[in-house]
Amino acid sequence: MTQARQRSIQVIAHRGASEDAPEHTLAAYMKAIEDGADALECDVRLTADGHLVCVHDRRVNRTSNGRGAVSALELADLAALDFGSWKDSEESPDWRDPEFTSVLTLERLLELVADAGRPVQLAIETKHPTCWAGQVEERLVQLLRRFGLDAPPAHAPEESPVRIMSFSARSLHRIASAAPQLPTVYLMQFVSPRVRDGRLPAGAQIAGPGIRIVRNQPGYIARLHRAGRRVHVWTVNEPEDVDLCVRLGVDAIITNRPKQVLTQLGRT
Ligand code: G3P
Ligand code: CA
Repeated sequence: MTQARQRSIQVIAHRGASEDAPEHTLAAYMKAIEDGADALECDVRLTADGHLVCVHDRRVNRTSNGRGAVSALELADLAALDFGSWKDSEESPDWRDPEFTSVLTLERLLELVADAGRPVQLAIETKHPTCWAGQVEERLVQLLRRFGLDAPPAHAPEESPVRIMSFSARSLHRIASAAPQLPTVYLMQFVSPRVRDGRLPAGAQIAGPGIRIVRNQPGYIARLHRAGRRVHVWTVNEPEDVDLCVRLGVDAIITNRPKQVLTQLGRT
């Protein structure tokens, strides 16, 4: 595989540099930017009072010192929680600074990216899109519009600074209706009959297979490429999986270890 081909693979930091820092915190995203990631992945959920926050799980129990569903808590409740110290270990014992480890709103993440000092893209995943009957997508497009990020810049129509990802075809369809210029990624845990031939559900443009699909059905990547689809693979942490993705010519690698992957691709 040539260096030129390797350079064309985008490296997307999954939940930030989430191997090194608590996922979805400012600390994790600042580290990913420092590491040189091309883009940042984040999951978004709506709080009870309608704020988009970056949290993966339905409940806050695993990644904070609180309990309960994000959708049942208000932003002020979440702001009182510690989203860092669950990550403490002997090597990194101190994830307690609330400035960097409090709940992260999507708005704050957009500000961070705007101030990054270099182009950094965002790959935003909508979670629980059915529970709020379209409100996640509506709020998301409103917020992106406020930052001028709901469409690619006129001078670079191929380079959208934001793409929206989801396992839900319905969610992507809503995004495509509200902001047709935003690229969308259909995430897959397995290859269902509706996508087997390389087609994707209406509203989806880019394919997002999990690494298990890539390992078990490598021919599927070529099928997607033949169908004109770009391919973003998640979550690719092991060096042999990075090699496999390079061999198959995937377009983006979503990883908890952006620094390690960039080094493996010869980009550091
Ligand atoms: O980037 C896609 C990947 O994040 C999907 O899985 O569970 O980590 O959101 P999950
Ligand atoms: Ca995700």
